[in-house]
Amino acid sequence: MPPETELWNRVEATAREVFGTYGFGEIRPPIFEPTELFARAVGGETDIVSKEMYSFPDHSLWDLEGQRTYILLARPDAGNPNSVQLFVSALDKFIDQLANAASSREIPATSDNDRGFERLRAGSDRISSFLVPHATNLLDQFDLTVGHIQQAAALIKLGDLVSLRPEATASVCRAYIEHNMNQWPQPVKLYYLGPMFRRERPQKGRYRQFYQIGAEVLEREVAGGEGRVASKELEKDAAVDAEVIEMVMTFFDRLKLPGTQLDINSIGHNAPECRRGYVEKLRGALLEVKEQLGEDSRRRIETNPLRVLDSKLEHEQAIIAALPKIGDCLCDDCAKHYAEVKRQLGLRGIPYKENWRLVRGLDYYMRTTFEITAKGLGSQNAVCGGGRYDGLVELLGGPATKGIGFAIGEDRLVLSLQEAAKEVASGEWGVASEKGACDVYIAWMGQKTQETAIKAARVLRDSGLRVELPAVEQKFGKALGQADRLGARYALILGEDEVASGLWTLKKLADGTQEKVLAGDLVGRVRGGAEKERN
Ligand code: HAM
Repeated sequence: MPPETELWNRVEATAREVFGTYGFGEIRPPIFEPTELFARAVGGETDIVSKEMYSFPDHSLWDLEGQRTYILLARPDAGNPNSVQLFVSALDKFIDQLANAASSREIPATSDNDRGFERLRAGSDRISSFLVPHATNLLDQFDLTVGHIQQAAALIKLGDLVSLRPEATASVCRAYIEHNMNQWPQPVKLYYLGPMFRRERPQKGRYRQFYQIGAEVLEREVAGGEGRVASKELEKDAAVDAEVIEMVMTFFDRLKLPGTQLDINSIGHNAPECRRGYVEKLRGALLEVKEQLGEDSRRRIETNPLRVLDSKLEHEQAIIAALPKIGDCLCDDCAKHYAEVKRQLGLRGIPYKENWRLVRGLDYYMRTTFEITAKGLGSQNAVCGGGRYDGLVELLGGPATKGIGFAIGEDRLVLSLQEAAKEVASGEWGVASEKGACDVYIAWMGQKTQETAIKAARVLRDSGLRVELPAVEQKFGKALGQADRLGARYALILGEDEVASGLWTLKKLADGTQEKVLAGDLVGRVRGGAEKERN
């Protein structure tokens, strides 16, 4: 809401400005995408995909969905022919309507759905046979058949599964493939702003609909790079990583965001001589201390040992500190790349802290990972997270492509800026935006003056001034009170005398002084006053 939205807009305008100077163009990816895209890109085992996405089947076949629910919840009783009859009728109706929807292509024609139909039909034939009285002693068979029917009904896809986007990197890579951006001048530099959705436990700085400002650099991979070529490529990648980080830090500096800290790490690449080897070593070390770990970490030893390093549990900290470090297990290329990233950050004068525990919660990262924290946010203090993701485009069915990017949590950024403004008495944010929400309040009275008031408002607004024009006439006292409440700088007083004489009264609300101005001088007088105040 205003006035906070003013700060949001300023943050966004600054992002566009700064990112523009680094050669980034805006992309507007859709709010929802096939669930499959996020599952493949972000990773099926990650918290984001396995627990936090808002997913739904994309169809409007509510009648069919209702019938399916009835079948799934029904508990027909083999000893009660009526209940069996009801179940069979519902099932047959479901099958008939499914067949209709399939022939009019309203439901996806997948081989899974074909198999599902067959199983439903077979189930229908079998279950009908239980209507014959002698069959009631085959109770187990009956329940089993109902179970099979319910399973098949549950698996029929009435529509493709889609999800509200939990992040946008996957969409940007999808767009890169779909629009053959590998044919564009390389690298392709894109940024985006907008809402993301994750079903997380809400708290300060963590919301289910939140906003990100993100950027991605994508670049076609050169084929057959070996030796000197490969080495040059490593250097180039490291410079790109450092420039992307420099861009975020410049953006934060431009906003005067205080207390930022940049953490960096390299998580190597997915090969036995690099990260995969490290993960095995880590798993081994974790198994040795398993008994001392909490439930989540114990589970992660099997599913994703790297995520144990993310643990915030107090009693696990000392144990984690003694675990093997990824930095000691990087392959030569990844180690070279990491050293070069640090050198490049040094060249740019960007302070950083190495944090070997920074693994990030999305599967697509390799080599560089980074996170930036800010002040005033409590436990959710990461305002930006990012990293390199070579290979993601390929994983999604595109050409071999390198990638690096980040996303800033805009809600958190705004929170942190607001906290900072509270600390500085003459806070640049918030206070400033509340003031001066209105430049001129037009206090008009008398039906004949309304037309003049409307014209004056238009002239002032055309020159970019913020004007409040009451819809109905007001007594001057009330009008001036209202002007005050709105924080207006001037009141333009228009009564019948003013209109008749062409000399209007302009009252400066800060000190109550007033002067007579000619209509033609109005804009200049208000603007001139504003300039003087600013100086
Ligand atoms: P992420 O770390 O999942 O990375 O999110 C980036 C930032 O979004 C976080 O640092 C945080 O500021 C903000 N954020 C995440 N979840 C929430 C939430 N529930 N409420 C408020 N803010 C939140 C990504 O999303 C990657 N796509 C970043 C990236 C781009 N990596 C490479 N390119």
